[in-house]
Amino acid sequence: MADREHDVSTTATTPLFEVRDLQVHFPIRRSGGQVARALDGVDLEWRRGEVLGIVGESGCGKSTLGRALLGLQATTSGEILVDGEPLEDADLRAVRRRVQMVFQDPYQSLNPRQTVGAQVLEPLAIHGIGARGADRIARGVAVLEAAGLRPAARFWDRYPHELSGGQRQRVVIAAAMALQPEALICDEPVSALDVSVRAQVLHVLMTLKRERGLSLIFITHDLGLAWALCDRIAVMYLGRMVETGTAEQVIGDPRHPYTKALLSVVPSPFPRDRVRREILAGELPDASRIPTGCRFHPRCPAAFDRCRSDDPRTLAAVAGADGHRAACWLVDG
Ligand SMILES: Nc1ncnc2c1ncn2[C@@H]1O[C@H](COP(=O)(O)OP(=O)(O)OP(=O)(O)O)[C@@H](O)[C@H]1O
Ligand SMILES: [Mg+2]
Repeated sequence: MADREHDVSTTATTPLFEVRDLQVHFPIRRSGGQVARALDGVDLEWRRGEVLGIVGESGCGKSTLGRALLGLQATTSGEILVDGEPLEDADLRAVRRRVQMVFQDPYQSLNPRQTVGAQVLEPLAIHGIGARGADRIARGVAVLEAAGLRPAARFWDRYPHELSGGQRQRVVIAAAMALQPEALICDEPVSALDVSVRAQVLHVLMTLKRERGLSLIFITHDLGLAWALCDRIAVMYLGRMVETGTAEQVIGDPRHPYTKALLSVVPSPFPRDRVRREILAGELPDASRIPTGCRFHPRCPAAFDRCRSDDPRTLAAVAGADGHRAACWLVDG
């Protein structure tokens, strides 16, 4: 089988994933054909070796997008390209080996009746990696220790309920890393954990990223955390990206009123911005009733007539800031 990872001609320029106008609609029961538009025209590029933050309020579609990238969520329309190839033509099993997912709740990812050792050996057995026995055990020990469970022997025979939340998430990360993936999609990987252990688990992820050249998607509702960890950030609102750019561009010079509002609720790393704080008004509208025009207009302090009628469908380029884009009529496109 051809190994795409080593095809240098494609790896240099082709993004790992590219998403174009992706729609995921869920039918709403007993609604007479209404749908919830969980994803409603997502455009996104995830480059190789990059830490990409996907940020937005609860219900905006972050997890749906993460699942869709691995073919774990059926899509309604649009395109997902992996290494430039349509996901529907790709070998999903191979994609899911190369790109692992880490979920918020380690309890849900782990089998309560399996020991730590068994959990890291299982993916190796499923994918037929390494020789049985000593070779696989050596790999399992190595990934547990890389995830900070040292010495691995102390944890090997324990069950999930015998571990702390932070230790359980380290086991999840180790099991994901056992397959030597090139990328991880981390969906709120620390938000279920005690505040005191969050930094340690994030440190494990970022160390693995640095040492193994992983590409990382980091899904979070915390812009401050995204700023600390990510190379680029995509801000999502009601099923669509509203601003994308480097972390410095999006956090240091936010252009979309939604990004500005999100930033107003986190302690700003840029003290000069603190004077113009805005509080996000109102609730996130329902995904089955997306407002006309700009979907953010009912909550936007800067909305004017055009915002109520015209949808700023494409992300307009911010002048003089390469790669910085925002879907807002106040940003000239
Ligand atoms: N299986 C489903 N059936 C119906 N609606 C769904 C389904 N999964 C998600 N949705 C809806 O799609 C929208 C996006 O959900 P999603 O879980 O992707 O959001 P999220 O950004 O990950 O939120 P959170 O931050 O709370 O995890 C929500 O309105 C949600 O109610
Ligand atoms: Mg989610």
